[in-house]
Amino acid sequence: MSVSRTPVVLDVDTGVDDACALLLAALHPAIDLRAVSCVDGNAALDDVVRNTLTVLDAAGRPDVPVARGADRPLLEPAAGARHVHGDDGLGDLGDLGWTPSDRSPDSRHGVELLRDTCLEAAGQGRPVALVPLAPLTNVALLLRTYPEAARGIAEIVFMGGAAATGSTTATGSTTATAEFNVVHDPEAAAIVLAAAQELEVPVTMYGLDVFYEPVVTRQEAAALVATGGRAAELGGRLLQFQCERFGRAAATIGDAGAVCAVIDRGALVTELLSVRVELAGARSRGRTIVDRREQDTDLARETHPETPTTVRVALGVDGPRYAALWQHTLLGKAR
Ligand code: BDR
Ligand code: CA
Repeated sequence: MSVSRTPVVLDVDTGVDDACALLLAALHPAIDLRAVSCVDGNAALDDVVRNTLTVLDAAGRPDVPVARGADRPLLEPAAGARHVHGDDGLGDLGDLGWTPSDRSPDSRHGVELLRDTCLEAAGQGRPVALVPLAPLTNVALLLRTYPEAARGIAEIVFMGGAAATGSTTATGSTTATAEFNVVHDPEAAAIVLAAAQELEVPVTMYGLDVFYEPVVTRQEAAALVATGGRAAELGGRLLQFQCERFGRAAATIGDAGAVCAVIDRGALVTELLSVRVELAGARSRGRTIVDRREQDTDLARETHPETPTTVRVALGVDGPRYAALWQHTLLGKAR
């Protein structure tokens, strides 16, 4: 194994596109996937854990520890997104005869698995890229309960939020103003941004501005299924499910784009901006407020008197480059 591989930890709510991200992280030769923590989100926690183990089995990576994390957001009840991800949270693969994993998760709580993995990485002098692809409940609990874990985190690259200045002019998906991962647990998202700032962990926001850009066509998905490889077949089937469900000719690799960002940062256009999470508001709760004004103006000082939480916000992406990276990896052609 090459020593130059990037140590990565994923936090997931698997989820069709989380599955795409898991396949990429498990199989790309430049990534050393150290652990996966699970959280309630797209599906209930038990389903998320089973789906995650099933995907890692398909990738031939039963060695990666997977742990159950938070089974609900900090404040609100769980909601789920089965209308997007299927009744089982994984594209109703069971209906196609796909056998779920019978593996058991790690006995630790997901937050403890994150802590142990980060501290071990710190001890090795090889801090991890922590990539949350789900509501930020586990990561908020980690950074507030075990802030020392930050020593083992080189950066956080999270999927969530929107600046509404990229390929989409919408700030929301789940609501008119808010993206799913942030609105599902807004307090957790706000805690992560604040804690990362305090603990000096750099944060990149891979949000809706770029999320829909890397796409795989129906034909490309069918070609993956036809290869006969277990991982390629799974990835292809998941994107076929998304094409069917939304009546589209192509589907986004979604969360997998955030893993692409760890592998190939050069395809991403970013700006360092102040980001806050709206915690109040009848209709704007969970919105990410991305301040694109000059930060040293009087107006900026007036409305943002406290220390800003500065985030590297992805505003543009070379979508075909990331889609190709994902497909090549599933076909075993990535270098
Ligand atoms: C995010 O929400 C979920 O549906 C996806 O898995 C992704 O993490 C997109 O808003
Ligand atoms: Ca997700």
